[in-house]
Amino acid sequence: MEIRRLTGVIGAELLDIDISRNLGADEVAAIRRALLDHQVIFFRDQDLTPEKHIAFAQCFGEISMTPVYHTLPDYPQIMPVVKEPTDKDVIGDTWHTDETYHPTPPLGSILYGREVPEVGGDTLWCNLYRAYDTLSDALKRQLEGMRAVHSNNFLSANSQARNATRSTKLREDVGVIDSVHPVVRTHEETGRKCLFVNHPFTYAFEGMTREESLPLLQYLYQHSAKPENTCRFRWRKGSMAFWDNRCTMHYAINDYPGERRAMHRITIQGSVPR
Ligand code: SIN
Repeated sequence: MEIRRLTGVIGAELLDIDISRNLGADEVAAIRRALLDHQVIFFRDQDLTPEKHIAFAQCFGEISMTPVYHTLPDYPQIMPVVKEPTDKDVIGDTWHTDETYHPTPPLGSILYGREVPEVGGDTLWCNLYRAYDTLSDALKRQLEGMRAVHSNNFLSANSQARNATRSTKLREDVGVIDSVHPVVRTHEETGRKCLFVNHPFTYAFEGMTREESLPLLQYLYQHSAKPENTCRFRWRKGSMAFWDNRCTMHYAINDYPGERRAMHRITIQGSVPR
């Protein structure tokens, strides 16, 4: 397996590996190592049935079910991420980390491209270790020990309106899901510190109002997503992205009006952020 980096700071393609096979323990360990080293890894030209996608994901942990979106009727482990040619909107077109409103946000997400537009529909990722590392020592000291409230309210408060313009459907029966997480997270496998706040789901710093919190939160979001902290992936049919949801944010670009894009997403159970 060859590893080809996309940038000097995040992202790598893993070449010469067919992930539809039963992978050996050494191959699983090498893929996990690449994920930890590069934060998001990519595979090309994979031919995956839902069963094979599920089997691949299970090599890295237990599958977690999305608490807010509808899943495939026959595969509750898989969330379809679809934009029809007539849809105006997509999910994920703001920098975010998946499901941080959950007490145990996913360890990672595995997105498989089944149908992609000829051009457009790329996804961006940013490196939240580097976002933390490049803060001033004074701001690092200020953030140390701070916690933030994360909520699904951004999605669920407007679920009907959101469902009207996009094919990836929110469940309309979901109540509020809130969790409090550290603003600086220590990754449980690498031991490295990273920022752990994101625009749609972080509501406020614990003990502060949203108005008091927003100026610093907004600074942290724009600092995290500076272009030199990101990579951009151009999808092809059969491409797969596997990101470490503990130390990245991502952004799905809605720039392919009138075209179809259809993906399958599986998330892997995470643990309580520390
Ligand atoms: C997501 O935010 O999980 C979707 C990403 C994408 O569609 O590229």
